Amino acid sequence: MNREELSRTYDFSGKTVVITGATGVLGSEMARSLVGCGANVALLARRLAPAEAIVRQMGERARQAVAISADVSDARSLENAAAQVREKFGGVDCLLNAAGGNKPEATTRPDQRFFDLPPEALRQVFDLNLMGTILPSQVFGRMMAEAGEGVILNVSSMAADRPLTRTAAYGAAKAAVDNFTRWLAVHMAQEYSPRIRVNAIAPGFFLTEQNKFLLTDQQTGNLTARGTAIITHTPMGRFGKPEDLLGAVLWLLSPASAFVTGIVVPVDGGFSAFSGV
Ligand SMILES: NC(=O)c1ccc[n+]([C@@H]2O[C@H](COP(=O)([O-])OP(=O)(O)OC[C@H]3O[C@@H](n4cnc5c(N)ncnc54)[C@H](OP(=O)(O)O)[C@@H]3O)[C@@H](O)[C@H]2O)c1
Repeated sequence: MNREELSRTYDFSGKTVVITGATGVLGSEMARSLVGCGANVALLARRLAPAEAIVRQMGERARQAVAISADVSDARSLENAAAQVREKFGGVDCLLNAAGGNKPEATTRPDQRFFDLPPEALRQVFDLNLMGTILPSQVFGRMMAEAGEGVILNVSSMAADRPLTRTAAYGAAKAAVDNFTRWLAVHMAQEYSPRIRVNAIAPGFFLTEQNKFLLTDQQTGNLTARGTAIITHTPMGRFGKPEDLLGAVLWLLSPASAFVTGIVVPVDGGFSAFSGV
């Protein structure tokens, strides 16, 4: 491979990428980067205004993007989004399932024991992370099956392999996302087309809306004991920056990974490799 072939591999011109959770700290960085690499991008989130603001900020490239309101735990809302994607761009090449997160109500703390966590909060975490990955994969995966090609990229977490303290449902839901990633990779390749690939990335720790309440003190902004423990356990000694994910995302969405399916790639500054000793 030479330099021109390499840059062609990462040229997404004419490709359509649907991103759920596209207004999040991580999803929005992925959306901007994919538009920058030439892709048409559909930015999905429940709230339309922040998605529209991100599209506007893309300047000249804004015409490659569209903001669509969709709830990943609601199949009908996703079908409606798929119709809009079809109308605007004609089809879908890649799905990036970046919607996800934890909830304070589903997290233990001194005044909230595991035994008292409200079932509704636990269910919401499963709905968002697990069903929120499965349902978009059904809706947009069907379009890929019809086309005979496509790529699905899920977003897992370090909590999937080894549970983190306090986040009772989040780690279990992400573990299920890993399992589902492997299952769907095999299913798509065997039942529909070996040119449909399914993988996941497992980010380490990034300071975002969903975990700020655990990692930083709301009053002072200083790291909590948990935040400090994470940095201590990350050999690279820092939180991730959203752009740290882009190399793995572009690789897994592009033909550079044409023979890669059913894997979960950690992007974690060494967190998962470190025993603590
Ligand atoms: N931050 C980290 O350190 C970290 C580490 C490992 C893995 N992750 C994973 O990375 C992914 C992105 O995380 P993030 O930190 O960027 O999240 P974030 O900043 O909290 O953003 C969450 C995004 O998901 C959307 N969303 C939430 N509920 C939704 C629903 N029911 N339907 C559709 N969209 C919904 C939000 O928009 P609306 O509210 O408008 O819908 C927003 O766009 C998640 O899967 C997360 O679990 C994050």
